[in-house]
Amino acid sequence: MNTKLKTWLAATACCLSLPAVAQEESMTRIEIDSTRPGATINRDIYGQFAEHLGRGIYGGIWVGEDSDIDNIRGFRTDVIEALRDIEVPLVRWPGGCFADEYRWRDGIGPRDERPVRVNTHWGGVAEDNAFGTHEFFELVELLDTEAYVNGNLGTGNPREMAEWLEYMTGDSESAVVEERRKNGREEPWEIAYFGIGNEAWGCGGHMRPEYYSDLYNHFATFLKTPPGSEPKFVASGGHTDDTEWTDVLSRNIQRQMDGISFHFYTLPTGEWDDKGESTGFGEDQWASTLWQTLRMDEFIRANKKVLEKNDPENEIGFYVDEWGTWYNPEEGREPGFLYQQNTLRDALVAALNFNIFHRHADRVRMTNIAQMVNVLQAMILTDEEKMALTPTYHTYGMYKVFQDATSLPLEIANPGSYRSGDRTIPSVSASAARGEDGELYLSLVNLDPQAAQQVTVDVKGMEITEARGQLLTADAMDAHNTFENPGSVKPADYSASADSGNLTLDIPAKSVLVVGLE
Ligand code: AHR
Repeated sequence: MNTKLKTWLAATACCLSLPAVAQEESMTRIEIDSTRPGATINRDIYGQFAEHLGRGIYGGIWVGEDSDIDNIRGFRTDVIEALRDIEVPLVRWPGGCFADEYRWRDGIGPRDERPVRVNTHWGGVAEDNAFGTHEFFELVELLDTEAYVNGNLGTGNPREMAEWLEYMTGDSESAVVEERRKNGREEPWEIAYFGIGNEAWGCGGHMRPEYYSDLYNHFATFLKTPPGSEPKFVASGGHTDDTEWTDVLSRNIQRQMDGISFHFYTLPTGEWDDKGESTGFGEDQWASTLWQTLRMDEFIRANKKVLEKNDPENEIGFYVDEWGTWYNPEEGREPGFLYQQNTLRDALVAALNFNIFHRHADRVRMTNIAQMVNVLQAMILTDEEKMALTPTYHTYGMYKVFQDATSLPLEIANPGSYRSGDRTIPSVSASAARGEDGELYLSLVNLDPQAAQQVTVDVKGMEITEARGQLLTADAMDAHNTFENPGSVKPADYSASADSGNLTLDIPAKSVLVVGLE
């Protein structure tokens, strides 16, 4: 055990007066089987979402070339550099609800000639379309990432959608492709995923899944790309505990459909009209938030069951292309901008979701947290020229070793239980994988905000002598980074050595740990 942890644990044990025996009883045992590799954890599970919403794009990513804020051809240098560090594999754009009102032609051509529209979904503000298709793909290139473009099914028509796809991917001499060339881009861009509508059950048109399936078949019929440059086509599926959308779509859609999307947001109270606060919450909302997050596992299981029936060949992916925490708007801020502070609790929410996604890596091949900058559970918050990296950002940084790793079976014996009010949840969540670099990685979350956990680790097929990695924790449940104090919550180095062949990890209360095992 390292000295810092030893001191910390001693201090905690003293303050909580935990008898040694109680600590012994709460010992959790993790068994990893390195001899039975499972599904690949697709790196796209670590995807991001950037919508024209609040300051998600404007001010957060794009400030324009004439801005006083340091920028690379209009993109904030600080934000681009920070995002490059966490190796973002995929960015979804332009929405969300915004996608189903977006006219792609507004966002091409000279910027000063682009029309202004009203962003009716998000604050009713002016959208000057300064950030459009070319800017999005420049962002993709700056981040060295992949593109997930969401088409407009709600208010668009098949021709508009088909021409947008042609504009982006075409290599012919058609008028549409020539227009792209005239606008400065000779080569086609690559699109990894193309979404046909968004939340068709809600802001995308309040449809029934049967009607949406027909529209999907209709629109998808006309979506054409040169051979070899087809994106994965994404159908807009259900949310929360619904499985009907997955069922109907997987039975009725006849055109190419590579995945069905699914949305689930973590609300501390579970109520949309009073979701809970982003900071200053009590232990009851710590527990309820993590409890809500863990429901993701049951939702994925239920949808996988449907897909196993309708798609036994496992051709259709289950894409959780919006997830994350959603709190009450902060006082004094535009409620439609969905800006919220991000605390240690959010870091745990992200880690718990990752552990769940890893477990279902056979079907869950892509997800996008909502959203990348300044909106909901963001990686980065900005205020004019200032920037703060959130605890969630750090979880992404720590977990990047799992991108394209091979998941490994993991059993948790005696995960312990943490109880607060009427909520009881396991104290420990974990996942393990063989990284692309050949190393074995283990992620652990201690959900208990009061008690440290001791975890013994056994790996079948390997003798472990050492664990090394990073630990993210803080004194307060709502510890967060501010523009004045951007380094309050950040990962610390962690290491532990096996004693006579036994590896025991001490995990502080309310923490996330990712270690490589040697
Ligand atoms: O992420 C914010 C919004 O949440 C998205 O626009 C929409 O798809 C969802 O309801």
